[in-house]
Amino acid sequence: MMTPRTVGLGIAIIAAATSFSVLFLPAMTAPTQPSEIFRARTNIENEGRVLYIRNGCIGCHTQYIRPSDWAFEPLRVSQAGDYIADSPHLLGSERTGPDLSQEGGLHPDDWQAAHFHDPRFVRPASIMPDFEFFSDDQLRELIAYVQSLGGTMADARVARQNYWKPALIAAYARGQDANAEFLYAHVPPQWATLPNPYPADANALAQGEFVYEQECINCHGPVGDGNGVAAPYLNPKPFDFTVLKRQPWSGGLLYYQIMNGITGSAMPYFKEDLESAKIWDVSNYIATQFIGTAPTLPKVPIPYQGAIPASREPKGNKQ
Ligand code: HEC
Ligand code: HEC
Repeated sequence: MMTPRTVGLGIAIIAAATSFSVLFLPAMTAPTQPSEIFRARTNIENEGRVLYIRNGCIGCHTQYIRPSDWAFEPLRVSQAGDYIADSPHLLGSERTGPDLSQEGGLHPDDWQAAHFHDPRFVRPASIMPDFEFFSDDQLRELIAYVQSLGGTMADARVARQNYWKPALIAAYARGQDANAEFLYAHVPPQWATLPNPYPADANALAQGEFVYEQECINCHGPVGDGNGVAAPYLNPKPFDFTVLKRQPWSGGLLYYQIMNGITGSAMPYFKEDLESAKIWDVSNYIATQFIGTAPTLPKVPIPYQGAIPASREPKGNKQ
């Protein structure tokens, strides 16, 4: 019988069960130990976190990689102890943009600055709003915060970006030809000499053009000379492909650089975003559209100086 008493009792039981499971149980089982990648944030990183909260970044970004997430290469499944210093936590539930829990060190600061100024500068098809209105100090704070996401794993990637950046800036300052040779010297020889296995037919070039316009054009520019709209924000500047008219190159060299990115520069790691055929197609597009001469080997041998490790690689924090 549904007497007022049974209804009242029912409500009380449901209310007790709900508050136990959503209030008390989480509080009782909340982590008290930091995870192995945890580190405390610095003051500037905390300032950046305030900007993250105020500007609604959580509306589009999560900071939580679930065990069920399937990705090309999930960097780490998040652990409760990663968030021990976070109140309120910023796990989020909307993924209009990518998860940011391991964002630190995937890109150097100059890429981040260009991206916040206008996301289209570095990702032409992006739908993220621009944050041009930040002052220089605020931008520094927000970048410090995103570079800290991922704890000590992020620190290792940031250290690798900072290790390579001065070497790349120095090579760029020696002139475009010296820079092309420097980059060549850091591509494994089996790649530097590999021809593009795909024919540069009309389909491949149309696909390559599409990829170029979706991903590359605002850095490398509509005519491939490195003068895209993002260039003023970046150091070293985007590569001028026309330099390869007089420098050694191969389809495999282009492929390797696009796949791996160039850690320390804004050149992103595309292995996760572009499948292999698309990388060969955009290489063919660059070759026919901007270089226009046949691949050549170095006239004077360029000794191999070891690879620049990709920003996403889990190990090897310096070389
Ligand atoms: C309307 C949704 C939206 C909002 C709001 C938003 N983003 Fe994004 N964000 C995106 C999308 C979509 C991408 C992927 C495309 C791109 O890189 O621009 C992205 C990409 C990013 C990336 C690059 C991730 C990578 O390495 O590829 C970072 C960092 C980032 N956002 C930070 C922020 C921060 C910080 C804020 C707040 C100040 C913010 N976003 C606000 C949608 C959003
Ligand atoms: C955010 C800017 C940015 C984007 C986007 C970008 N690049 Fe780059 N790229 C660079 C920079 C900067 C360098 C040069 C680094 C240096 O000189 O140290 C570079 C270098 C390269 C190189 C190396 C050339 C060589 O001879 O070693 C290739 C190839 C290349 N980019 C192709 C591409 C392709 C293809 C895309 C799109 C799929 C792309 N890049 C997107 C910034 C970018």
